[in-house]
Amino acid sequence: MTQAPLPPANLQFDLAREEFVQIAAMLRQETGISLANSKMDLVQGRLARRLRALGLGNFAQYLEIVTDPEAADERRQMVNALTTNLTGFFREAHHFDYLGDTILPEIARTRPAGSSRLRIWSAGCSSGEEPYSIAMTVCAKLPDWQCWDARVLATDIDTNMVATGRAGQYEASRAGTVPESYRKRFLLRLDSGTVQVAEVLRDLVAFRQLNLLGAWPMRGRFNVIFCRNVVIYFDKPTQRTLFDRFADILAPGGWLIVGHSETLFRLSDRFEALGRTIYRKTA
Ligand SMILES: C[S@@+](CC[C@H](N)C(=O)[O-])C[C@H]1O[C@@H](n2cnc3c(N)ncnc32)[C@H](O)[C@@H]1O
Repeated sequence: MTQAPLPPANLQFDLAREEFVQIAAMLRQETGISLANSKMDLVQGRLARRLRALGLGNFAQYLEIVTDPEAADERRQMVNALTTNLTGFFREAHHFDYLGDTILPEIARTRPAGSSRLRIWSAGCSSGEEPYSIAMTVCAKLPDWQCWDARVLATDIDTNMVATGRAGQYEASRAGTVPESYRKRFLLRLDSGTVQVAEVLRDLVAFRQLNLLGAWPMRGRFNVIFCRNVVIYFDKPTQRTLFDRFADILAPGGWLIVGHSETLFRLSDRFEALGRTIYRKTA
C-alpha cells in the first residue's frame, strides 16, 4: 500500500480571521489565556506544526478535529503549542534573595512548636527552572532544611513542560544564571551540553499537570506561592478570581510573588504590597 506523502516541513497554511477567532475562543475557555488580534501570526506559526504532524491541508480541517468533543488529546496538543513557556533559572533573582534572606528565616523563627511543615507552590512552572531555583534556595538558606517536612509543588497546564521539569535535564547553557556555588552543588554535568538537576532537588519538587482555572486537588495551605509571568496572559476578571483563590489557599501571613509586569492593584484587597511584586496575605 502506498502512503500519502507527508507535507513538506516548511509548508505554511493560511489562517482566516474567523478561524483565528474560533481558536482564540477555545484557548481562552480552556486556559484563561486571552490572545490579542496581533497574535494571529503567532497562532498560525505555532499550529502549523500540528497541521503538518497530522498531515492536514488547511486550518478548516484542523478545526474540525480539535472541536470534536472526543478530541481531548488534540486539544491538549493545541494548548501545549499555544502557551508561552519562556523561563529561566533564577529569573527575577531578587525574588529568590527575598525568599532566602527574609521569608525562610521568618518562617523558621515563627513556626509553631512541633511544626516543621513548609509548602511552596510554583504555579505556572513551565519547564521547571523556577521550582528548582526555589528548591536550591530552600536547601541553601533554610537552616537544617533536612529536618523540615518541605515540599515544592510545581504545576503547569502544559504537559510537555511538566515532563521536561520532571526529567530535570537542561542544556548546560541555561545554567549560566545559577549562582556558581549552587551550580557546583546542585547541577551535575551529564556531557558537555547537558546538566542534570541533583536528586536532592528532584526529591523536593513534585511536578503535576494542573489548570489554574480548574479544581485544585491540593490539601493544606501554602506558605509561599510563586505565580510569575502567568496572569499577564489572563483578562482582569480571571486574574481577580485567581488572586482570591490564592488568598484562600495561602496560610495566614503567606506570601504571593508575581512577575515583574504583574500587579494586584485594584484586583485584590486581601494582600499588602511589600514592593518589587511581592505581596503578603492580610485577610
Ligand atoms: C511565561 S511562563 C512563566 C514560567 C515561570 N513562572 C517564570 O516566570 O519563569 C507561563 C506558564 O504559564 C502556564 N500557563 C498558562 N495558562 C495556564 C493555566 N490556565 N494553568 C496553568 N498554567 C498555565 C504556561 O503553560 C507557561 O508554562
